[in-house]
Amino acid sequence: MAVCEALGRRGVGVLCVDREQELAEKAAKAVATAGGIGEACVADVSIEGDVLSYAAACQELWGNANFFFNNAGIEGVDAPLASFPVEEWDRVMAVNLRGVFLGLKAMYPLLRHGETPRIVNTASVAGMIATPMLSAYGASKHAVIGLTKTAAVEYAAQGIAVNALCPGPVESEMMRRIERGLGDMQAAKSQYEAMIPASRYAKLEEVAAMAVFLLLDSPMYLTGQAIALDGGLSIS
Ligand SMILES: NC(=O)c1ccc[n+]([C@@H]2O[C@H](COP(=O)([O-])OP(=O)(O)OC[C@H]3O[C@@H](n4cnc5c(N)ncnc54)[C@H](O)[C@@H]3O)[C@@H](O)[C@H]2O)c1
Repeated sequence: MAVCEALGRRGVGVLCVDREQELAEKAAKAVATAGGIGEACVADVSIEGDVLSYAAACQELWGNANFFFNNAGIEGVDAPLASFPVEEWDRVMAVNLRGVFLGLKAMYPLLRHGETPRIVNTASVAGMIATPMLSAYGASKHAVIGLTKTAAVEYAAQGIAVNALCPGPVESEMMRRIERGLGDMQAAKSQYEAMIPASRYAKLEEVAAMAVFLLLDSPMYLTGQAIALDGGLSIS
């Protein structure tokens, strides 16, 4: 939502995709309230037909695309690798990896006709370091970084920049769910914070600022990079 507001402040058109209608509409409203053009589309990013229809909706609205924020992701349950449920592994991979792959495919024809086409795949610092208790999440985010590099090389000839944004823990509902899954929420948060040199989670506005920079402002020569926004976590 913070990214939608920040994009809206730049006055751009955004087709907000979510599997939940209410959330897609809330995001579109946030874009419009901030000064952009917000449109909503309900789609499950793990289903090819849904992804093709959000790309078609975008084409109908604007003909092409100048940026694509490939952002939907789920964390899955907290569980040790040795007993991690296989169906949960498949569910996380379907959204976090298949969804990103399907989006990269479906949006390519629109982006190649964009003026300054930039793609940002949301990975995570979990794509750079170990993620105990979140094996599927960590593996999916490592794979998103790998896929980002391949897309950057393959799409470079069309002038499309592709980067991965890798936030560390963010003050967000997702972190609250992860902390809850670990039992004592406050202890889990303190443990995460102790690992971060900046001693705190990222603020939503910080993630939004970086996403907007990578979607609208970064040099087109910046491509194929996994950019950590993590208070130093990945380098400590
Ligand atoms: N919150 C964090 O601390 C954090 C840190 C690093 C990376 N990330 C990544 O940032 C991205 C956004 O996370 P968030 O914190 O906003 O999470 P969130 O749970 O608040 O939002 C995720 C959104 O994705 C939607 N979604 C989930 N599955 C979907 C599907 N199959 N199809 C369409 N929409 C779907 C949800 O409805 C929800 O609106 C994710 O890729 C996440 O892995 C988050």
